[in-house]
Amino acid sequence: MTFEELIAPVGIDNFYKNYKGKQYFVIKSDRPRFKNYFSWHEFDNYLNQHKLGAWDRTPQLQVVLPDGGKYCKKKDPVKKSRDELYKLWKEGASFILTLSEFLNKELWNQCAEFEKHYGVGQSNIYCSSQKDAKVFPIHADSTDNFLFHVRGKIRWFIYKEFHKHGTPYRPKDSTLLESFVLDEGDLLYIPKGQFHRVETLSPRISISFHFTENKYKSSRGDWYDWKP
Ligand SMILES: [Fe+2]
Repeated sequence: MTFEELIAPVGIDNFYKNYKGKQYFVIKSDRPRFKNYFSWHEFDNYLNQHKLGAWDRTPQLQVVLPDGGKYCKKKDPVKKSRDELYKLWKEGASFILTLSEFLNKELWNQCAEFEKHYGVGQSNIYCSSQKDAKVFPIHADSTDNFLFHVRGKIRWFIYKEFHKHGTPYRPKDSTLLESFVLDEGDLLYIPKGQFHRVETLSPRISISFHFTENKYKSSRGDWYDWKP
């Protein structure tokens, strides 16, 4: 989907003038327009590769654990087994497939499209199995964020404060600006540094696309069709 199509009710000029880096917005959709971006079937395939043979087949996996901690497949010295991960999933952990833009053509093309306006970036896929799953606490991200809500329902909380570099932040100081529910096909833009969090209302898949600000010609190139 082109950037213009994605943010159509806002418009490109209006985006740069009134929203970019300053103001979040939600674009509701009357259809699940992101349904081809990632499916539960693809999630199932991805997780079932875990620990098959000696090769690392799920290098992108991160987990928000039921106790609030985080497991990073790549960095944590003790790797979790597929059984352990499955148990965590059923107990309400959220799974994040980071740097996932190569997992299918839709994700790749969407990143390439954003990179006409931003520097090189990535997509992260957030999946939860249930209502009230464990998710990240209030935080701010260091880049602009475009959130595609793909499956299920989720409640977002946007806070007034923006993270200022080098300033300590205490979550209890946050001032809630707005809370709203996203359905399948809805888009949320959060400017760089604005505090936010979510609450899952059902099993869900959300995708965040985020990019460096350093706009230059993307080296991503086209998605090639390798099928013979
Ligand atoms: Fe975030």
